Amino acid sequence: NQTKIWNVSTTINEETIQEAAALLRDQQVVAFPTETVYGLAADATHEAAVQRIFEAKGRPADNPLIVHVGNRDQVEQLVTEIPEVAHRLMDEFWPGPLTLILPSNHTAAQNVTAGLDTVAVRMPSHPVALQILQAAGLPLAAPSANRSGRPSPTEAEHVKQDLDGRISGIVDGGPTGVGVESTVLDCTSEIPVILRPGGVTKEDLERILPEVMVDPALVDQKEQPKSPGMKYTHYAPESPLWLIEGDDDFFQQQLLHIKEENRRTAVIASNELAGKLDHDVITACGSRENLPEIAGQLYRALRQYKKADIDVILCESFEEKGVGAAIMNRLQKAATQKITQH
Ligand code: TXA
Ligand code: MG
Repeated sequence: NQTKIWNVSTTINEETIQEAAALLRDQQVVAFPTETVYGLAADATHEAAVQRIFEAKGRPADNPLIVHVGNRDQVEQLVTEIPEVAHRLMDEFWPGPLTLILPSNHTAAQNVTAGLDTVAVRMPSHPVALQILQAAGLPLAAPSANRSGRPSPTEAEHVKQDLDGRISGIVDGGPTGVGVESTVLDCTSEIPVILRPGGVTKEDLERILPEVMVDPALVDQKEQPKSPGMKYTHYAPESPLWLIEGDDDFFQQQLLHIKEENRRTAVIASNELAGKLDHDVITACGSRENLPEIAGQLYRALRQYKKADIDVILCESFEEKGVGAAIMNRLQKAATQKITQH
């Protein structure tokens, strides 16, 4: 099956939007950029269309999808009620990288919610995503447009690597901005709970809400996560990734150890650390003082190194403030090993 590719990275042309929307109304699956990562979309109200997403990605059926909406009325069509707190959050953060878990009225197909009584909804802010949503006139289920287990795609090329020939189309809108996925916030309990840290930070939420909790499973690996997707291996690069927790000298020592063993080593680090290392295979992802910049570069860095060339990737740890919480959540999942300075 041929995957059609449209390029709208310099100007968004209406024909492309209409063609993508028509495919979606015809129960096909199409990938497009959002402000976080590329999503793989299908009609959220149509079970057979949604099934194509699961098949293309190889995604486990018990992992529910986020429903993307182009307006607030579509939210009302999907849920039994919108709590006051959710209204406030939508006013403040939509369109944008915040997904709200609300009580489902089962308008979304049952495979979208994996049989749960709740549904995840978000309004993306990327103009391509918004225009396709509006042209299709449908709520669109869209997980990240990667093969299950791989790092999420932040460029159309990443979608192509994973899904070429398996989906109807890819709308190339250039690199996405935020670089990590949306924050998933459960609004069905008295105090909202962060199930997945993401583009809207806990600090952002605390400006609006009197209290925010964090799913205990995000802190303690022994806890069962409330978000089904959080239990799976994720974001994995091809080569084993070792997460180094310590200062720059400690990182330098670990790199030397590995090089002495003649292992082909790549490094993913901040500009600051990269500048101190004597090594030639390094991806510098931005300043450690600018965590949004690191988030924007992270998945591209994780995808960059191939098993055939690299035996081990050493990666720096970042401060867990702001979007750093999302960065570290993804790196903890991507890592095969952690090496901690004592
Ligand atoms: O930024 C994003 O959120 C991107 C773009 C494409 O919008 N999408 C994305 O989707 O990251 P996905 O499928 O890769 O991640 C969805 C997450 C999973 O962890 C899933 O378990 C959780 O949301 N989720 C979905 N519905 C849920 C529900 N009803 N209750 C709890 N967690 C839910
Ligand atoms: Mg995903």
